Amino acid sequence: MDPIRNPYAPGAGRRPPELAGRSAELTAFDIVLERVARGRSERSIVLTGLRGVGKTVLLNALRSAAVRADWGTGKLEARPDQSLRRPLSAALHLAVRELGSADPDSTAYVLGVLRSFAQKTPAGTKLRDRWQPGIDAVAIAGRADSGDIEVDLVELLSDVAGLAADAGRGIAIFIDEMQDLGPDDVSALCAACHELSQNGLPLVVVGAGLPHLPAVLSASKSYSERLFRYARIDRLDREAADQALRAPAQEEDADFTDDALALMYDVTAGYPYFIQAYGKAVWDVAPRTPIAISDVQVASPEAEAELAVGFFGSRYERATPAEREYLRGIALAGSESVSTAAVAEVLGRKPQSLSPARDSLLKKGLIYSSERGQIAFTVPHFGRYLRSQVSEA
Ligand SMILES: Nc1ncnc2c1ncn2[C@@H]1O[C@H](COP(=O)(O)OP(=O)(O)OP(=O)(O)O)[C@@H](O)[C@H]1O
Ligand SMILES: [Mg+2]
Repeated sequence: MDPIRNPYAPGAGRRPPELAGRSAELTAFDIVLERVARGRSERSIVLTGLRGVGKTVLLNALRSAAVRADWGTGKLEARPDQSLRRPLSAALHLAVRELGSADPDSTAYVLGVLRSFAQKTPAGTKLRDRWQPGIDAVAIAGRADSGDIEVDLVELLSDVAGLAADAGRGIAIFIDEMQDLGPDDVSALCAACHELSQNGLPLVVVGAGLPHLPAVLSASKSYSERLFRYARIDRLDREAADQALRAPAQEEDADFTDDALALMYDVTAGYPYFIQAYGKAVWDVAPRTPIAISDVQVASPEAEAELAVGFFGSRYERATPAEREYLRGIALAGSESVSTAAVAEVLGRKPQSLSPARDSLLKKGLIYSSERGQIAFTVPHFGRYLRSQVSEA
């Protein structure tokens, strides 16, 4: 069918033509916004899940909901080894601008605090490495610039949320890849959220990250479970997967046969990324509507090839030879979560000698530790992909 009208959207963070199966999270978030705006305390939401299940696009959808509720919003993506200060300053700068408070003096003050927060650099930073945050306000010295991130965050977020409260609105900060925040930043963020919610200030932090993110948060602050409601974002059930495929097709006056939908669910297992990749390939090979089971069969190699490059290959490429060996070890040791001891045994190596490779894979977010001594891929079907590589080679 006409490739120009192909509605499907495989790709990291790409907005799907139909956001299927996420109404529970969207509804829950609307309630959070409404309650917080009324000064009620409410746990914020943290989305967790494997790669490609749709955390980023859901986070973006929640942000749109906050914008519709007239909140000021900002978003950042955490990176390993990067401090929160700069990306958070930029996100809050946007949020304050979005808020567009009618009170110019208070706004200038809050922007000044934001500037002093943003400009604070660790002691010993060279002049040429100092950062100019591009905030058009006079820095307020002595506020949010102590250098202690926890103290500074409490001051800054209180001021920003206070500005929103005066306008009868709220502030929402969205943090993607939240597991990559450094321990000090995580701890400071939790402490600041805790303090603000106790004071009834309208600010929420919404996070998204890999399945071990709850463990990262609770290792930092034991009360994190009371701050955040964890929503596990998973593959779609059959009904939602059908919806993800059919609704966009019907928009284009096309449809799938029931058999075709059943086979699509078999091959994609309901993983959103796979649904988009298969949807795209199937659309292009199908000669006419309705898309039939034979079209799915013909398109499969094409879809798998696209996934091999775009989803699996790009990640495998980022791994060093030692890391690749470890990945193959996991793939050979089992299908889901495996023990680190089993990986060492499969590879015929001493467990300690594999620690560096394991640690760097954890840091790159290719694997995660579901529980002590256990390790699993963050990428669904990665084991199957690697095993097929070995048999081809
Ligand atoms: N609810 C959904 N319905 C249909 N398609 C979806 C849905 N959620 C996500 N997708 C599609 O799945 C793909 C992956 O989405 P996204 O990048 O948000 O996943 P992610 O969980 O953030 O992955 P990563 O961990 O790699 O960042 C995109 O192509 C997106 O369009
Ligand atoms: Mg993402």
